[in-house]
Order: sequence, then structure tokens, then C-alpha cells
Amino acid sequence: MDYKAFIEARIGFIRDTVGDASAINALSGGVDSSVVTVLGHRALGDRLKTVFVDNALMREGEPQRVNRAFADLGIPVEVVDARRDFLQALAGLTDPEEKREAITRTFYSKVFGELVRKSGAKYLLHGTILTDIEETVAGIKRQHNILAQVGIDPQEAYGYHVLEPLETLRKDGVREVARLLGLPPEITDRIPFPGPALATRIVGEVTESRLATVRAATAIVEEELADTGVFQYMAVLLSDKATGIRNGRREFGEIIVVRSIDSVDARVATAVEVPWETLRRICSRVTEIPGVNRCLYDLTPKPPATIEYV
Ligand code: XMP
Repeated sequence: MDYKAFIEARIGFIRDTVGDASAINALSGGVDSSVVTVLGHRALGDRLKTVFVDNALMREGEPQRVNRAFADLGIPVEVVDARRDFLQALAGLTDPEEKREAITRTFYSKVFGELVRKSGAKYLLHGTILTDIEETVAGIKRQHNILAQVGIDPQEAYGYHVLEPLETLRKDGVREVARLLGLPPEITDRIPFPGPALATRIVGEVTESRLATVRAATAIVEEELADTGVFQYMAVLLSDKATGIRNGRREFGEIIVVRSIDSVDARVATAVEVPWETLRRICSRVTEIPGVNRCLYDLTPKPPATIEYV
């Protein structure tokens, strides 16, 4: 594919479609939404407002990191604190699809609905990629950012149009475009991270304290596996507990699963043979997190597993 021509065509598409109106987009710091942010700003300049929605489900230090990276690119990003909205919407939910649905609803209807009304934007630019659409349409998993393809008319439901300039690309294509747009390696080479964020890595209820546990484990896994160059790695908090011993006393503690997978485009994936020494170090650090007394490594390929747990 000629990615330079793709970039020009998509900038033209955004400019022509939005016309004199204004647009808004949510930046998560991942490669998909970062590419959309740059394409959108090239097409619309300051008629595009870019927001970072803090949904309480982010990794450690994320709002600060994203703000810094885009300040360096000369693109202003407004941080919107929506932590309470998301935590309230997720309270008491354990079913994976209900959790995803609650995140979608909170994001598009409540948080974005309000932002769009306040800003007067007519369009939302979106980082949906082809794999998201295919898996949702196939009924495998409801990706948080799929609307039209599952029969939701965003204009009717939320009062704005959605543009998806990356809908024909897969992850490898998006990275190629990101490099051509001059995004820094910390964004172009970053491992994929799902829109519903750490909620996809908590089996069972998402609460502030369970988020703190999986966030701490995620930071450890990402640090230990940072230079491996594999497709994706993560920590997952299970809903089961296991008996352990801490300071000579019985403890019924949390279980963290570590997953590291190789893949080209996330459609199929295999578990990576992480050196035993590294796994042992991860296990030892993860079981220092308060309340966690077990650390497992997941060997399952996709299929039959998916990459995320929720
Ligand atoms: P699964 O778990 O479906 O993941 O095998 C495939 C790839 O997609 C990412 N993923 C998502 N990305 N919104 C996203 O933007 C989502 O709802 C979502 N769910 C999964 C996942 O991290 C993996 O790279």
C-alpha cells in the first residue's frame, strides 16, 4: 500500500467532510488515536479539539505522558476528569459484555455527549481500525469504539457524526502511517492497549482498589518486558482467589496472570517463551503488591483464547 497517498487522501477526506464545522477527538496515547489526532490537526488545524479522557482505567502516569508527547508535537490536549462517571457506571458489573457496554455508554453518551454539546463540534474523529470492526461484526467481542457497524447511529443516539479515517487499516498499517507522520517511537512502537483499558484486564468487578492492583502489576510487566520487542504483554487480575502464606500467616489472596504474545495483526497470536529468569523476577515483584500472593503465566494462543481477558 502507498501510505503517503493514504495520508493525503485521509486528510482530504476529513477536510471535505467536516467543511466549515468543527470536530473533536479523544486521544488515548495509543498509536491509533495518536495517528487520528495528527491527521485531524493537519486537516482542520485548531478546528479540531483533542481531549484526553481520564476514565480511571488508565495505566500509571498516562495523562501526564500523553500530554507531554503531544505538547512536543505542538498539539494542545485537554485532560477531562471523568473518573467518577466510569467507576459509577462499572460498579457491581461482572459480565464482560455488560462492562464493555457500560464503558461505551459512559464514553459516547455521557462524557462525550457533554463535551460535544459544550464545544459545538459536529464530528467525532475516531481511531477504529479494521480488526475492531471485523471482530465486533463477527460477534467475537464488542470493541468499545464500534457503533455504526452494530446498528448504532451516532447522529441519532448521541447527536454527532463519527468519522473513522483508519477503518481500512490493520495495526501494522497504522504503525507505518504513524512513522510517516513523524510520531515519536514511544508512540509508534508502543504495544497495543485496548480502549476500555485496564477494565479488559480485570475479571469480575472493576473497583478502585482492584484497578490499583492491576495497574501496579501492569507497570511491573511493562517494565520487565519493555525491550523484548514482542507484540503485546500485560497483567490480568482474576476474580478467583488462592490461599497463600505471608509473614507466617494464612492469606487468601489475589491472582495475577502475566501474558506475553507474538502476533502480526492481533487476529491470531501465540504465547512468547519468556526466559524463566525474567518470569521469576516478575513473579517475585508482582507478589509484593499488597494482597497478591500468586502469579501465573498464560500459555494459551489465540484462538482459542482472545488476547485480552474481558
Ligand atoms: P482480543 O482480546 O480481541 O484483542 O484478542 C485483539 C487486540 O485488540 C485489542 N483490543 C481492543 N482495542 N478496543 C481497542 O481499541 C477494544 O475494545 C479492544 N479489545 C481488545 C487487544 O489489546 C489486542 O491487541
